[in-house]
Amino acid sequence: MGPSELADLAQPGVLTDPTPFADFLTFVLKDGDLGSEAVGDALQMVSNARKSIAQKDSTADMTVTVGFGPASWRRLFPDRAAPPELVAFPERREADRHFPSTPGDLFIMVKSKRMDLNFQASKYLTTGLAPIADLIEDVQGFVYLDDRDMIDFVDGTENPGGTARLNAVIVDVDGPERGGSYLTVQKYMHRSAEWDSLATSDQEDVIGRTKFDDIEIADDKKQPFAHNVRSKVKVDGTEIKMYRQNRPFGNAHERGTMFVGFAKSASTIDTSLQQMIFADADGAYDHILDFTFAVTGANYFVPPQSLLDSFA
Ligand code: HEM
Repeated sequence: MGPSELADLAQPGVLTDPTPFADFLTFVLKDGDLGSEAVGDALQMVSNARKSIAQKDSTADMTVTVGFGPASWRRLFPDRAAPPELVAFPERREADRHFPSTPGDLFIMVKSKRMDLNFQASKYLTTGLAPIADLIEDVQGFVYLDDRDMIDFVDGTENPGGTARLNAVIVDVDGPERGGSYLTVQKYMHRSAEWDSLATSDQEDVIGRTKFDDIEIADDKKQPFAHNVRSKVKVDGTEIKMYRQNRPFGNAHERGTMFVGFAKSASTIDTSLQQMIFADADGAYDHILDFTFAVTGANYFVPPQSLLDSFA
């Protein structure tokens, strides 16, 4: 199968660039028997809501990307084999660093150039899913300055593009999961006062890049605790990429970053998280975690578009 055929299988928002605005919606399924008809109606509505709102302004590049958690997969699609790597997000803890594991059965990322259209889509999706699922979180992310996160560094520079992105995120094995992608989502809040009181050179040591012009610090000058050292995944010396569609969110009172990472193997993001939180033999962990802390954590599988279309 060629690259463009594989890309055509995917939900488009998995591969497109981050847009100026994104709504990140987390739902939990209602208890009890949902009924296959109610499930079918709700998923049909997801497709319809995107189409009807997207057509209001085709220049807004709206996509609606839907992921399913491990428990919801079994409940919503009892006749379809679950993607083999779809497991619940494991809680992790070391010293005062903590990655909590929090509820999330359905995750929807609404992306477009217009905040108002995203809001409208999110409202419809939430109403349409209400018979089977409750919205537990809606985080509205936006492009901040020249693509900076709320710790004022450019975020996303080392993301793969083009075919490299496709190869990094879209599952390409025989089976129903072909064209899908594994997704991990964590909501981080920032300790902004502590971060802002660091000297710029110390912040640059933590990230491993320069702040104003976003240049990678040379390998022999990088600190072992730098974020771009600890988060980078290598297998037999070869770097394995993920695609991060992170977005900052917040206001003057509190702010953070939604980590929204896609990969064709769940193990890539898992390895990155382990390297970040657990100190190595020399005591190095990711020092970004001294200034930002995760308040949510959940794993999803974003199935190929054909699964959603089968309900349309
Ligand atoms: C508060 C949360 C986070 C913030 C503010 C943040 C910020 C950044 C920044 C500023 C960069 C450098 C620019 C770039 O290449 O994009 C970066 C790189 C990166 N981040 Fe994060 N990040 C966060 C969480 C995470 C998490 C949870 C993971 C993995 C599970 C991760 C994985 C990566 C990777 C793989 C790179 C590229 C490293 C390289 O190859 O140079 N980040 N991040």
